Amino acid sequence: MARFLVTGGAGYVGSHVVLALRERGDEVVVVDDLRQGHRAAVPADTELVVADVADSRALAEVFAAWRFDGVLHFAALSLVGESMRDPLRYLSENLCNTLAVADAAVKAGCRRFVLSSTAALFGNPETTPIDETARLAPTSAYGESKRMAEAGLDWADQVHGLRSAALRYFNAAGADPQGRLGEDHHPETHLIPLAINAALGLGPELTVFGTDYPTPDGTCIRDYVHVTDLADAHLRVLDALEDGPSVRYNVGNGQGHSVREVLDAVERVSGRRVPHSIGPRRAGDPAVLVASNERLRRETGWVPRYAALDDIVRTAWAWREAHPRGYDSRRQGPAAQAA
Ligand code: UFG
Repeated sequence: MARFLVTGGAGYVGSHVVLALRERGDEVVVVDDLRQGHRAAVPADTELVVADVADSRALAEVFAAWRFDGVLHFAALSLVGESMRDPLRYLSENLCNTLAVADAAVKAGCRRFVLSSTAALFGNPETTPIDETARLAPTSAYGESKRMAEAGLDWADQVHGLRSAALRYFNAAGADPQGRLGEDHHPETHLIPLAINAALGLGPELTVFGTDYPTPDGTCIRDYVHVTDLADAHLRVLDALEDGPSVRYNVGNGQGHSVREVLDAVERVSGRRVPHSIGPRRAGDPAVLVASNERLRRETGWVPRYAALDDIVRTAWAWREAHPRGYDSRRQGPAAQAA
């Protein structure tokens, strides 16, 4: 049995990865300050250390208390818009925390590191779908912070032999198909949960950010990838790092859907209307962002199981309908509920 440290393991993607690790029998220690994460998203039988990874003493205590076979680092600021209002905070927090966690891992003799990275590395891409050879040209401080974090890991590999995988997520979406975990951001800025909230009357009507893009229906196209498929990609790269080199992968379904198509899917799945209006473009939104997942498929055998947009939306809908106020809607964590 292996033991992994998961920073940010109470957050949206992190919690789905923790669940997948626990289900296959790995031991997990979660470090999360619960600013964005939820205690209820961590299985009741999983160690949760409530601390900020920027707290060097707390981090040292964690590495002194346990020996880890690998580290998965999710704890980060992750809002593109916010990063353009407070770029220095994003650059410093996301870079420094990645370096601090990597440094602690190196000192503890830990050899495997997985970084939660982003499609925002690519800015306005020159070609589509975007493969791993595409130029890194972030157009936000958030994207830049992850580019710098990846560069830090390149040095950690070159000098210390810390092998790392950086997974550049496209649009993480959906929820655990068994309903144990879901998406619960505060504030929520993502299209699918906002559309679902609008349809359920739990939030305001949705504003479609622009209908004048050079796409077939004029709205932006994105690559929505199911969070459980994302979790599977993490487990695969973690295993491959045991005796393989450092890797960088784009993680998406390889197919794009427009904002209008997403709204149609929510209406189809739920049988309800999504109240919405048309607004101006949101600053910084590229027209089309679609991943090439060829390298990930070829090298790790990853195949998305929930690739269909309706499947993604269905799981997100089911969780939100069962948890109208998010994790606050229930008292027990996923393990307790599953039992
Ligand atoms: N959108 C709307 N109305 C809304 C919210 C979103 O029309 O109220 C549109 C956006 O303009 C975009 C699409 O829906 O075209 C998806 O928007 P999200 O905010 O859900 O996701 P983004 O594509 O903006 O962001 C995602 C990740 C980021 C990552 C980025 C890479 O959430 O972490 O992709 O560009 F950095």
